[in-house]
Amino acid sequence: MNLALYREFRPKNFDEVVGQDYIVKTLKNQIKTGRLTHAYLFCGPRGTGKTSTAKIFAKAVNCTHSTDGNPCGMCAECVALSEPNTDIFEIDAASNNRVEEIRDLREKVSYPPLIGKYKVYIIDEVHMLTDSAFNALLKTLEEPPKHVIFILATTEIHKLPATILSRCMRFDFKLLPLNTLVEHLKNVFDKKGITYDEKSLNLIARAGEGSVRDMLSIADSVASYCDYKIDYTMTENVIGLSNRDSIKDILLSILSKDIRRVFESVKNALGMGKNIQVLCKEMADFIKNLIMVKAGVGDYSILDIMPGEYAQYAEISSNFNMEELKNAFSKFAEIELELKYSINPENLFESACLQLINMNGASSGPAIKSVETTPKVETVVSKLPEKKEQSSEIDKIWGNVLLKVKERNMFALSNALTTVNKVEKSGNTFFIHTNDLGSFEMIDNKERISVILEMIKLFDDSIVEVKVEYDSKNASTTDVKDSLKDIFKSKIKFKE
Ligand SMILES: Nc1ncnc2c1ncn2[C@@H]1O[C@H](COP(=O)(O)OP(=O)(O)O)[C@@H](O)[C@H]1O
Ligand SMILES: [Mg+2]
Ligand SMILES: [Zn+2]
Repeated sequence: MNLALYREFRPKNFDEVVGQDYIVKTLKNQIKTGRLTHAYLFCGPRGTGKTSTAKIFAKAVNCTHSTDGNPCGMCAECVALSEPNTDIFEIDAASNNRVEEIRDLREKVSYPPLIGKYKVYIIDEVHMLTDSAFNALLKTLEEPPKHVIFILATTEIHKLPATILSRCMRFDFKLLPLNTLVEHLKNVFDKKGITYDEKSLNLIARAGEGSVRDMLSIADSVASYCDYKIDYTMTENVIGLSNRDSIKDILLSILSKDIRRVFESVKNALGMGKNIQVLCKEMADFIKNLIMVKAGVGDYSILDIMPGEYAQYAEISSNFNMEELKNAFSKFAEIELELKYSINPENLFESACLQLINMNGASSGPAIKSVETTPKVETVVSKLPEKKEQSSEIDKIWGNVLLKVKERNMFALSNALTTVNKVEKSGNTFFIHTNDLGSFEMIDNKERISVILEMIKLFDDSIVEVKVEYDSKNASTTDVKDSLKDIFKSKIKFKE
């Protein structure tokens, strides 16, 4: 049985509209002050309240006993206007998109309203109108009779001609943040006497992807399947996740540079019947949340997670450095559209994953080893007089820096730094030597250098500059590893 929750819970007044606070407030104010416009444009994703708000507004402009801008629902006008096609007309442009229909509308528009003060025309999916129909509509919008209000609604604003846009007061409906959806769903379930647990609630709300309507449709299926006693396993069965886990798995396989697992985890995710473009979007969203958590964002209207999930996100994000997360985020955000037009989207997606492995410092991994045997340019070897005391002091500083890098969970950098075989101080410059070309390339990057400098400064604030030098294998360098191993025992594991 289907409950059609989304129909039952269509908001009847502005206060029942969830989210869209700015829009609701502005429209209420217009009702209260009587300062109305004759053409409104409601745009935004489906299931966010455009049609509902248009209907509420249409009633509110005619209600004679409205309180705080809301239609009362009881006055003669409100009651009469509950009948469709009295003074409020809903036109679906998808099926009435021809010029004849708009011309017909133009004629009827001139007749005065039957019940209230205004005739309101709600033209839904207005982007479906043909060019000539748009032109006909434009004429009406240019000189509308005083008693007429148009509300145009669309999910595809970019398809509207500029001439239409410029004549309407525009409101952008937004996808709803997860916490708002959860709150609303809770409300709906409580009112219907449907039982649930927090985890299921979150899962269903998340599956709505910001659309109240989609969320309620999914809730419908879950509630019917569970016979009104919602349980997590059954919820997972219906929704076909658990999504997060497969996304997490792909991300972790990239981090651990495990190519075999990349392919396996992608296959796995797709095996769950997921569309690859959706998967890509979810990857990007998931990583974005990790970035926000890592950056310390605590505002749940920005974060797309629930308070109870914060710790989990913090833990996952601590496994990555910001650089890696940023790379991954841009990559998945970038290919999302490309996937749509790709002949083989799966290959494109997998190739993106593999590229990320490279970007995230696979160069310090085994693949680069062969480079070492063919040393390139012979660069700097120690130009400094080596004072034994100073050098052990420097080694100690360096050891502390390595620990700090580790603490910051910058795994790729940390890994590359373990190949450093000599550090020196000359004046205010700190020199880092490595004879691993891959690691040299990894470390010798503006952002990473500045992180290292910042850390060195914690222990020696006379340092103002850090330089990385690549020494080929046979260059004569003192090995700092041994002395560091002594100082820090097993705390630092060196790459051999
Ligand atoms: N902002 C919202 N607040 C409360 N319910 C909403 C909201 N947006 C959508 N809904 C739910 O979804 C259903 C469809 O909403 P609708 O207003 O037709 O969305 P749109 O026109 O933006 O696609 C409503 O009946 C209601 O149950
Ligand atoms: Mg609609
Ligand atoms: Zn009323």
